[in-house]
Amino acid sequence: MRRWRVFSLAIFMLVLLSGCGKEFQSTLIPQGEVAKQQLDLMLLATGMMVFVVLVVSIIFMYVVMKFRRKKENANLIPEQIEGNHKLELIWTIIPIILLFILAVPTVTKTFALADTKEASKENSDALVVNVTARLYWWEFEYKNQKIITSQELVIPTGEKVYLNLKGEDIKHSFWVPSLAGKMDANTDNANSMWLEADKAGTYNGFCTEFCGASHALMQFKVRAVTPEAFTGWLKQMAEQHGEVASDASEQVTKGEEIFNQSCITCHATDASDSRPAAARIAPNLANFGDRDTIAGILDNTPENVKKWLEDPNAVKPGNKMAGQYGDLTDTEIDAVAAYLSSLKVE
Ligand code: CUA
Repeated sequence: MRRWRVFSLAIFMLVLLSGCGKEFQSTLIPQGEVAKQQLDLMLLATGMMVFVVLVVSIIFMYVVMKFRRKKENANLIPEQIEGNHKLELIWTIIPIILLFILAVPTVTKTFALADTKEASKENSDALVVNVTARLYWWEFEYKNQKIITSQELVIPTGEKVYLNLKGEDIKHSFWVPSLAGKMDANTDNANSMWLEADKAGTYNGFCTEFCGASHALMQFKVRAVTPEAFTGWLKQMAEQHGEVASDASEQVTKGEEIFNQSCITCHATDASDSRPAAARIAPNLANFGDRDTIAGILDNTPENVKKWLEDPNAVKPGNKMAGQYGDLTDTEIDAVAAYLSSLKVE
């Protein structure tokens, strides 16, 4: 009885979970070329496995029923077929054919999806982004455009985006379920991959290598926009130096002042790559006001900016910002929050 209860609960959960897929976060609802090809492979492999299990089960059931001991022929020994050449050939050749059907597309696609040669060619106009994973945030450096951002990777739709992945402190792993399978961000070598988004939208990204207390909170977004919007975004980012407009409110100006006295040692508000990689020890905030989330996990609202500034460790345990910038009064926190929210390029 207990076993049945557990079993029916598992079935119920399976049905419940199968309804969880959303296009911004599901491998099963692919939103780009790479994810589509990977899903095709999964379906092919699963389909073949189901086919084999079905055929074997049906034959097994048939044999069990047909040759079971019956009253009328209790001592009957069916025909013995050990060493039957025909049968042995059949059950050797069928698996070989099945393996071929599985291997050919798997090998072809594996090589096609790992092909990032275009990105390393000289004078290539491919879009290359160096992704750096750190405890517990992501940096995106647009190599040829010399633009840096963090936590939100902006990409154009319908174009291959080449990524070089590295982990700065320890190993992390980069995964955007709707766009591509995951790949490790190692500390001693760069892994490269590419992905593509078919249509505009915001897709959820995750760290999928256990890296510490806030591993599960090490999230990011990929925002796909039209190619025109992307070109505009790059141009705006290049012009962003984090200065407030001359007509900004007193609170925002005050916030900038406080920011430039303490936060600027770790955080940049300039989107250019003028800081050397070693000095980029905290997320670049050049377009903070445009981002969907704060720290990758909280909705970007003024209340949440304050919540984060008051106690970063309560939001993301073990993150490196905690305790780094002294105590700000409530008014100062409000001012910094107002300044950060004003950092927009769109
Ligand atoms: Cu970074 Cu898990």
